[in-house]
Amino acid sequence: MMSGHWYPGSMSKAMNQLREDLKAIDLVIELLDARIPHSSRNPAFYDLFKHKKHLILLHKADRAENKRTEAWLKYYDSLDAEAMAFSVQGKHYLDQLLKFLKKEEKRIRSGRFKRPLRMIFVGIPNVGKSTLINLFVRKAVTKTGNRPGVTRGKQWIRIMPNMELLDTPGILRPKIDETTVRSLAAVGAIPAGRADIYDAALWLLSCYLEQARSELLKMKYSLCETGPAEAIFEKIGLSQGCLQSEGQVDNERTAALILRDYQNGSLGKLTLEEAPPVN
Ligand code: G4P
Repeated sequence: MMSGHWYPGSMSKAMNQLREDLKAIDLVIELLDARIPHSSRNPAFYDLFKHKKHLILLHKADRAENKRTEAWLKYYDSLDAEAMAFSVQGKHYLDQLLKFLKKEEKRIRSGRFKRPLRMIFVGIPNVGKSTLINLFVRKAVTKTGNRPGVTRGKQWIRIMPNMELLDTPGILRPKIDETTVRSLAAVGAIPAGRADIYDAALWLLSCYLEQARSELLKMKYSLCETGPAEAIFEKIGLSQGCLQSEGQVDNERTAALILRDYQNGSLGKLTLEEAPPVN
């Protein structure tokens, strides 16, 4: 099994860049994957953002189970951390985020320095930072009928009259253990070839079984019965024609197919990590 640094590039370089960027930032918006809020959180963030206003976005909520997302939000609330669900699929998510941002903008404007709210999106690779930045850039275009204004060099995008966004997302490449690698591989947050996808696919199947959601697998792959994860894996390989020339199931292809189906939503919604209990 693999563990260690899972993303190309240097963690310390990214950290230093982010530390530098943060000096000019009023609000840090940290994106987590709503299917794996625990594994998609970089532990280094806790210290880094200690003195910053900070919002957690449980992103890609359209792929997660609402009940479990609610449980995560309750958990963050119990820690006094501000958090909300988010997805690009659903206007209500954007409305809720904009409402929050307007409140923050007021806070900044009523302070000593009457200047725009400056913010940054941060998170691990593939969590959806660029998508969100693009959404705001498009919004700025439609809002003002102009190209978004750029201030202080090329780095800032004015998304509304009093809000600016750092146009490079803060990317952190965490050092992670093998359980986290598996979770990240399941949601597609680790580049192909950098994780054991067979292991990730088997674990994913076991999550469906443990959460009594095997009917989703049966429906998608026309299985008559289920069984242990290894047996289901084998049946999926056979039923989907992922075979080697000698007729045995091709593990790589079968695993890639299962992960792709989970990641694109065709295996239904499943949250893979449960929120810690709240007293
Ligand atoms: P990053 O900057 O953090 O690295 O992530 P990026 O925005 O590139 O997004 C990574 C993938 O996540 C993209 O899919 C993007 O479409 C998808 N994504 C972003 N927001 C959401 C969301 O709210 N819900 C869902 N389900 N997916 C989301 P991709 O397959 O890599 O690219 P593409 O085929 O969409 O272009």
